[in-house]
Amino acid sequence: MQKEGRPTRPAPANSNGGDTFSGARALEQDEPLIFELDSPGANGVDLPAAPKAPSRLGALRRSGEIGLPDLAEPTVVRHYTRISRLNYGIDTGLFPLGSCTMKHNPRINEKLARLPGFADLHPMQPVSTVQGALALMQELKRWLAVLTGMPGVALPPGAGAHGELCGMMAIKAALDARGEGETRRRVLAPESAHGTNPATAAMLGFTVDAIPENERGRVDLKAFEAKLGPDVAGIMLTNPNTCGVFETDIKAIAADVHKAGGYFYCDGANFNAIVGRVRPGDLGVDAMHINLHKTFSTPHGGGGPGAGPVVFSEALARFAPTPWVVGDEAEGYDLVESRATGAETSFGRMKGFHGQMGMFVRALAYMMSHGSDGLRQASGDAVLAANYLKARLEDLMSAPYGDGPCMHEALFDDTFLKDTGVSTLDFAKAMIDEGYHPMTMYFPLVVHGAMLIEPTESESKRSLDAFADVLRFLAKQAKAGDVERFEQAPRFAPRRRLDETQAARKPVLRWRPPAPTAEAAE
Ligand SMILES: Cc1ncc(COP(=O)(O)O)c(C=O)c1O
Repeated sequence: MQKEGRPTRPAPANSNGGDTFSGARALEQDEPLIFELDSPGANGVDLPAAPKAPSRLGALRRSGEIGLPDLAEPTVVRHYTRISRLNYGIDTGLFPLGSCTMKHNPRINEKLARLPGFADLHPMQPVSTVQGALALMQELKRWLAVLTGMPGVALPPGAGAHGELCGMMAIKAALDARGEGETRRRVLAPESAHGTNPATAAMLGFTVDAIPENERGRVDLKAFEAKLGPDVAGIMLTNPNTCGVFETDIKAIAADVHKAGGYFYCDGANFNAIVGRVRPGDLGVDAMHINLHKTFSTPHGGGGPGAGPVVFSEALARFAPTPWVVGDEAEGYDLVESRATGAETSFGRMKGFHGQMGMFVRALAYMMSHGSDGLRQASGDAVLAANYLKARLEDLMSAPYGDGPCMHEALFDDTFLKDTGVSTLDFAKAMIDEGYHPMTMYFPLVVHGAMLIEPTESESKRSLDAFADVLRFLAKQAKAGDVERFEQAPRFAPRRRLDETQAARKPVLRWRPPAPTAEAAE
């Protein structure tokens, strides 16, 4: 029999445990899975049994119980509240992820996105009843076009990666229209590219040809030029790039690729470093996605309800996916939904309905509350914050491209950990004990043991200093031989280090009720 008051399940092997009777550590309480809280007969509501109705499911009809736990309402509320307290987020502390950017989500955005006129719309409402929403989409398009200097805007893509697919589909459509779709099959991408770039090109059937970096963390211009040829569809280039530096040869790269008959796709994930200062259209870009979560402060979609609008040059704008939002305040707004109804040159639809309305409201709220001068200041502050951290850390941590200022993220490698017995992973785990989410690790791949730090524009100097002090302390401890601190980390998190090999080789993806033990049967 179970001892009275004991947790219903033993603390997992990798749990921090602690030596309290309950397994809790004050406010931090180990929480079982919701299935383990099952208490037969306990229900939040009593509903009458559903009437028996004829079903057309045939053999697909479920034969047994669905297996949901029985729980009272307070148990459910406590369960999710406790779990939420085990989470680390931008609202609880500095989130230094580089490239993935966790940015403060201003509350004014949230307030506006919840207005019933936006939040309660149904995508199948007649357009005459959603004129305000369409006006907002037109206004967002206008801001994006002005900020990027690119006339075409497609709002539907649901994330940055989806935006890449959208941009490259437009390039493919343009090549097909020129009769070169079958011959231009090669896409160039730098070695430092985010994985979604080559993956996108490969998904569309292109072969991907990697361009090496030079010693300054930029595209090697000569190597790039040597790769151009009549089979090149285009280049996918991130600027500022994933090494956190500006591609200074970008205009030459654009001119070269155009001369060779290809298109220039820019991964605009890092637009937050230059918004209000540089217009990608002026640099020769043909298509670029914008991760609204990075530059315009919407929550990161994580593949879910995000948004990755794409901007197009004059040459590509007509291939943009449907639906097209058209019209103006005087004439009224409309949606052109398909090729058959007016969008003849569009490559088609890539998403149900019109995109993520909630994200559009948040992004436009951010733009309008900042204004053009505020956006310009935000990119300046983001770059300043990253350079401040770089300057505070580079005497102890090694910056591979440290010869000049960085853009919005500071890149370090693991040279400073050489011969210490501490790896990038260990260093990151020790940061968890100090109360910080680790930075992006082992990316970009061109840098050994990479640590990519992006503080964003909204951290105060005090917050940056507290973070820098922790990294300085850890770097000194590693060099002083305090290996145990790192090997044992995280010591204070709800879970200790996972066995990543075991998790990858034998993933447990489904909970199964434990077999009854003899003791339990007593
Ligand atoms: C450089 C770069 N490109 C593309 C992406 C993909 O964006 P998303 O996560 O919105 O799909 C990311 C990730 O944030 C990125 O850092």
